[in-house]
Amino acid sequence: MCRPLERRSFPRITRDEWLAILYTAHGVCLLHKMHVLQSPPDAVVTIDGREYLYFVGTGYLGLQCHPEVIKAACRATERYGIHSATTRAGFGNSPPLLEAERRAAELFDVPAAFYFATGYAGNAILLAALQDRFDVLLADELSHYSVLEAARQTRLPLFTFHHRDADDLAAALKKNLPPGRRPLLLTDGVFSVRGTIAPLTEYRAVLSGYPGAGMLIDDAHAVGVLGRHGRGTLEHFGLWRIASADSPLPMGEGPETNSPLPLGAGSGVRAASSGQWSVVSGQSDFPNLKSQISHQQISNPQSLIPNPSIASPHPSPLPMGEGTDFASFLTATASKAIGGFGGIIPGSLDFIERVKRSSHWFDGASAPVAAAAAATAKAIELLMADPQRRTRLRSNVRKFKNGLRGLGLEVDDSPVPILCLVLGNAENMRRIQSELMQHGIAVAYLPAYSGLGTEGGLRIAMFATHTDAMIERLIDELRRLV
Ligand SMILES: Cc1ncc(COP(=O)(O)O)c(C=O)c1O
Repeated sequence: MCRPLERRSFPRITRDEWLAILYTAHGVCLLHKMHVLQSPPDAVVTIDGREYLYFVGTGYLGLQCHPEVIKAACRATERYGIHSATTRAGFGNSPPLLEAERRAAELFDVPAAFYFATGYAGNAILLAALQDRFDVLLADELSHYSVLEAARQTRLPLFTFHHRDADDLAAALKKNLPPGRRPLLLTDGVFSVRGTIAPLTEYRAVLSGYPGAGMLIDDAHAVGVLGRHGRGTLEHFGLWRIASADSPLPMGEGPETNSPLPLGAGSGVRAASSGQWSVVSGQSDFPNLKSQISHQQISNPQSLIPNPSIASPHPSPLPMGEGTDFASFLTATASKAIGGFGGIIPGSLDFIERVKRSSHWFDGASAPVAAAAAATAKAIELLMADPQRRTRLRSNVRKFKNGLRGLGLEVDDSPVPILCLVLGNAENMRRIQSELMQHGIAVAYLPAYSGLGTEGGLRIAMFATHTDAMIERLIDELRRLV
């Protein structure tokens, strides 16, 4: 018999949750029009039949559109079909997959890498391999969905600490970590919307007081962009050698920055004189965020039983991910700066073997698409052969930031190609985005992304393929509109 639903059985949805449902992560309101991108995601695109200058998304080096990358993908499809239609543990290891892994290992200068279908899965795959090695997880509260979801899927207790706050990490460790337990820090290297960088040097200093501690860095937005070789945030901070105890990287590589600000400093960018405007990028932060959120245990409650294995830390001298006192772990994606598609975990042979066996992405999922793997391999080859792309990207970021300074905004000097502008209230930012679109320039307005505050923000992405004239045009339009 049908009974009417009880009113109280409906879940309560907050305003922010409604906004998150109505808007996609790319700032498109589902109640309005769903835009259609009808060209590759290059500096100039076609959206809904009209041409735009494109400052959206994550194609920072422009390699998604490189003719050799596209050709590699087409050839792989002709030769191997869409994919191998079985798992990699069976007969699914086609040459493009092995080539993607070989190239990824080369990029990170480690013996091996695991290549899988999507970067989103990387943190879950890695945590499945690490959950026996650590006792407690501590995550930056604004970590990407894929980091927090993966953490919740483990059997480990999870605590959060304030965004980019090493002092709060120290306090969370003191409060929540019983003596002798091994903490694993989880964080994005570069935060995807705000463009802020995690202060890894400070985190490492805090964690050095805890034997067996580690850091897992989701470096989706930093690999290919930060560091001398494009290895990401660890390399940016000069921590690559430390992270990879036996890595042949040169010792003592210092942190890389053009910034007069101390790396990892709290606020590298200040609001403009209107008091309403701010730019969030690089090492900057929202000044009042700390007071809004308190750190808390967010999942996996369980009693913390002393772990006898702490007395004998893992002895393996593996190049990455296996130190005796401290270890760093990295997940990357080929889908952003690299310009291919799919997820990457780099490491030593033993470690990568363990990673492949710890989750079921190797033996329980169809192998990744051949075209994606071939594109990834070719894009890494191009990225490594031509560091000028990264240089060009940095010069574009500098140019854009100088332009913003000319508009009265104080901007830091970090090389991150993501700028987040908070210009007054939501209505004002919607107006600016819509007028930019009318003038042929696409940027994203994100009303409800993690950590953006109640009014949201305009996310602007720089590419290596933007010309000086394109950047100047964006600055000119912003000058008119803000
Ligand atoms: C920090 C972070 N990690 C992981 C992912 C997922 O990577 P992919 O798009 O390759 O699945 C994203 C995607 O936007 C991201 O921003």
